[in-house]
Amino acid sequence: MPLIDLIAGARPNFVKIASIIEAIKEAQARGSDLRYRLVHTGQHYDRSLSGSFFKDLGIPSPGVNLEAGSGTQAEQTGAIMVRYEKLLTASSSDLTLVVGDVNSTIACAIVARKLGIPVAHVEAGIRSGDWTMPEEINRVVTDSISNWFFTTSEWAGENLRRSGVDVSRIFFVGNTMVDTLLRHLPRLRPPSCWTEHNLARGHYFVLTLHRPSNVDERSHLLETVREVATGAQGGLVIFPIHPRTRKVLGESVQGELPENLILVEPLRYLEFNFLVKNAKAVITDSGGITEETTVLGVPCLTLRDSTERPETVSIGTNELVGSDPGRIKPALARVIKGLWKKGSIPALWDGNAGHRIVGVLENLRTLI
Ligand code: UD1
Repeated sequence: MPLIDLIAGARPNFVKIASIIEAIKEAQARGSDLRYRLVHTGQHYDRSLSGSFFKDLGIPSPGVNLEAGSGTQAEQTGAIMVRYEKLLTASSSDLTLVVGDVNSTIACAIVARKLGIPVAHVEAGIRSGDWTMPEEINRVVTDSISNWFFTTSEWAGENLRRSGVDVSRIFFVGNTMVDTLLRHLPRLRPPSCWTEHNLARGHYFVLTLHRPSNVDERSHLLETVREVATGAQGGLVIFPIHPRTRKVLGESVQGELPENLILVEPLRYLEFNFLVKNAKAVITDSGGITEETTVLGVPCLTLRDSTERPETVSIGTNELVGSDPGRIKPALARVIKGLWKKGSIPALWDGNAGHRIVGVLENLRTLI
């Protein structure tokens, strides 16, 4: 009866892990004896970034919450490592499964591997090539010590093979974030700003910004936000604001911003994706959102110079507009004129990645 630790710590992790838990539960209902322990590292602790996701996505309460909290990169990663090591020392697992590229991912992978517990990485092999991103370091280090690799694209598998990973350890399974989106599409519901601001399908934009490179310097952040607002040519721009971004802007910033820019608190999963699905376009520096807009067929402008998810650009609706705010208005003008590409869906982004992962885990049981 192998016990698998499922590690989740930050908002995008919860979305990815939800589909894996669903698939394990379905396998259990068919008689499988796979067991899991859901470990919440506590990297995100606000209700808006954590609790509401568990509720909206029907994720069971975590078996363990390490309550590591915020801090510098080293403080946060170190706190998670110390606490996860204590947990494993008191009560071990047979496999640690980590998802994505956040600090919780690298921290728990290192701890498990050093205690001789095999590590599986979901969303392995993606690379931005941008070493200023903490996530890129997290990806490379996690992949360099993982035993099993679940990938969202053939390209990710190529990256792993080129770095010396044996093909027998790589499983191209698709995208668990897409599983969760497709599963919950019928349940999406409008947030309160939908009626408050009389929003209508295709007549507003959604903006999200949280990367240190875009938000940590206030003047650059304000310039970016203003370019988006003027580029929207009078259309409303809904801006759910991440705590990191809120701290930089301050509580009373609305007066410094154009009137068509509507600041709202971080939204729940079902409400955020309702807004995205019905938006004219999304402007973002998130990676996960570029996958969701690709699946929903909504134009996406990425305010970064690189992406670890190139298929959202080559196949999907995403375009790298870059970090220079001067490039935002011309890109939005193309959206407004109806000149944006249509895009299609990458291979295996079909809602079944979680099932494929659990299928592989069932077969790996003899090895773990
Ligand atoms: C983290 C991930 C990022 C992911 C993002 C999704 C890393 C390195 N970064 O970034 O890849 O895209 O989550 O949201 O793991 N804070 C709160 N409440 C919370 C959590 C954080 O107020 O519940 C504040 C803290 O003061 C902290 C700041 O937000 O200083 C940033 O949080 P942190 O977890 O360090 O990284 P994120 O920017 O959220």
